[in-house]
Amino acid sequence: RTAGIVVVGSLNADLTIYCDRLPKPGETVHGNGFAVNPGGKSANQAVAASKLGAQVSLVGAVGDDANGSMLLESTADAGVDVTRVRRSDAATGVAVISVDASGENSIIISAGANGTLTPADVRAAADTINDAAVVCLCLEVAIDTVIAAAQAGNDAGATVVLNLSPYAEVPEILAELSDVLLVNAHEASLFLGGEADVPDADAEAEAWEPVRSQFADRGLQRVLVTLGAHGSVVLDSFARGTQDQITRIAPTRVSAVDTTGAGDAFTGAVAARLAAGESLADAASFASVAAALAATKKGTQAAYPTLAQVEQLRGV
Ligand code: RIB
Ligand code: NA
Repeated sequence: RTAGIVVVGSLNADLTIYCDRLPKPGETVHGNGFAVNPGGKSANQAVAASKLGAQVSLVGAVGDDANGSMLLESTADAGVDVTRVRRSDAATGVAVISVDASGENSIIISAGANGTLTPADVRAAADTINDAAVVCLCLEVAIDTVIAAAQAGNDAGATVVLNLSPYAEVPEILAELSDVLLVNAHEASLFLGGEADVPDADAEAEAWEPVRSQFADRGLQRVLVTLGAHGSVVLDSFARGTQDQITRIAPTRVSAVDTTGAGDAFTGAVAARLAAGESLADAASFASVAAALAATKKGTQAAYPTLAQVEQLRGV
């Protein structure tokens, strides 16, 4: 197993209904299947990285209930160290998810126990974080907790990876403490607030230059923008030549069944490859294959690929 990743954040029970198309406001539609699966962006990221061979610890909180037990079990079964997942008096977090026939989803989350995760939990995990090569974060827990974890990761000399999802405006300090930002095109555009137009998903690398430069001005030197079926783009202001500062990663063509958590598979895979010492562009190229595979099956964690499965699809 490669060097350690600490994921600080959320665990949710995913209550998913599959349907032909998502209902409009005020409309009721028939579903054609229901499942309760382990989820939550951070738990998903942790499982994705662990299945890809990284050594992973998860810091989080679940309720003292059946959903909490399901989540502890699914993450531990995937090889994640869950000794820093605390049982809370609040109920386990829940996500209500609809998935349509094309594999697209919409999600509402109710924080529950995730809302009880505080900077004190981060301090309690200091030993683990001090040994980490990568600290992986998202925005499903309180912003103070995310900032405390980013600070602890920074102090430990770890690479801090922030997935800006679900999107929220974040204090300047969090951007400063983050080494790698992961966003989709919509989140990128919200973050830049119109300072630079995010190009069309199929645009050439050069079209991303204004976006790279705006992110760099905001203190974000390394940004990955995911573009769904169009692949992703790596903005690396630390790279030497201008040519290497922007890399387009081609999509991996698969037929999507359920894209829920594909972004978390991408984030977890990037964390795993960065922890293994790979460059950002190589990590992104690997992660796009992992995320594509994740979308070919229903659910999140159970759909995530192993290292061997990713390597097989890449022809390695
Ligand atoms: O990114 C997918 C995840 O978002 C789901 O597992 C759900 O729990 C929500 O957190
Ligand atoms: Na899936």
